[in-house]
Amino acid sequence: MNYQIALLPGDGIGPEIIEQAVKVLESVGRKFSHTFEFTEAPVGAVAIDRTGNPFPDETFKVCMDSAAVLFGAIGDPRYDNNPKAKVRPEQGLLAMRKKLGLYANIRPVNTFKSLIHKSPLRKDLVEGADFVVVRELTGGIYFGEPRGRSEDLLTAYDTCVYTREEVERIVKLGFEFAARRRKKLTMVDKANILATSRLWRETVQEMSPGYPDIEVDYMFVDNAAMQIIQWPKKFDVMVTENMFGDILSDEASVITGSLGLLPSASVGIHTSVFEPIHGSYPQATGKDIANPLATVLSAAMLLEIGLDLNAEAEAVREVVNRSLSEGLVTEDIAEGKAYKTSEVGEWLAVNL
Ligand code: IPM
Ligand code: MG
Repeated sequence: MNYQIALLPGDGIGPEIIEQAVKVLESVGRKFSHTFEFTEAPVGAVAIDRTGNPFPDETFKVCMDSAAVLFGAIGDPRYDNNPKAKVRPEQGLLAMRKKLGLYANIRPVNTFKSLIHKSPLRKDLVEGADFVVVRELTGGIYFGEPRGRSEDLLTAYDTCVYTREEVERIVKLGFEFAARRRKKLTMVDKANILATSRLWRETVQEMSPGYPDIEVDYMFVDNAAMQIIQWPKKFDVMVTENMFGDILSDEASVITGSLGLLPSASVGIHTSVFEPIHGSYPQATGKDIANPLATVLSAAMLLEIGLDLNAEAEAVREVVNRSLSEGLVTEDIAEGKAYKTSEVGEWLAVNL
């Protein structure tokens, strides 16, 4: 088959890690007789530099015309300490989510045997942890109106808004994930305080009888933040609103000891987007040292969720596991010799 893939390398280490995932996808193409046609488009700070817009219309069009999008990272230190910047790279990410209707962000959290000693948690607590954070991505306080500053600039406000429909579609996805896994759904909210959270909880309660074999529990977000650290193994699928999901998924990602290995998928109405969860890592830009495995595993998610190519996805995961067990990895996780970003990509492509 022939597949159109949009490549959005973005900022920082984005281009270097995307390049490795492309090598791996091309190797998948040769092995399984597919043709992947890649179209590259700018997003983030590079897009601001080139066009003034962090998510140009042309980039949107490339995404819409593709079967899936592989995305690198967004963010540039030039903007981080400048709260007055009119246009910010992150706006490109939010525009992409909104315009592509990517209402669900899926972040699998699992441990890798050879990296478990890097976890900040005790091995017995974290070994075998395996859960998925399903985060709502196009609503809530990230997008709610009104937002802004009072005229005298002394007051600022953001609004958290959710409609029943927005909650239902993401919760449905949460139930579906749980059905394919260990059949446990944890709804995380702050229903003791927030009206939006009460809408979420009410919706889950009403939908739950439709999924009789799924065990549902409800947890306040502060408690969830604690339990992720204390008992990470008790979670299966966690579903939550945009901002809580942002925070909890970062927390969840470090307990495995392998931030450089975690992929994610954003799915919704139009083309799905696949990206590593680590950021643009500006300190490493251009040095050929960044870990490409999270991006390669994002490409595996792209094959599986985006293109329905399961054997192909499995082959990618297998070769990544081999690179881990044979120590063919970058300096962030190397025990002995550290390999370059490009060397790891090359090795994966050849050994697939
Ligand atoms: C993420 C990031 C983004 C978010 C930022 C870069 C806007 O933290 O994808 O989790 O807050 O959603
Ligand atoms: Mg985040």
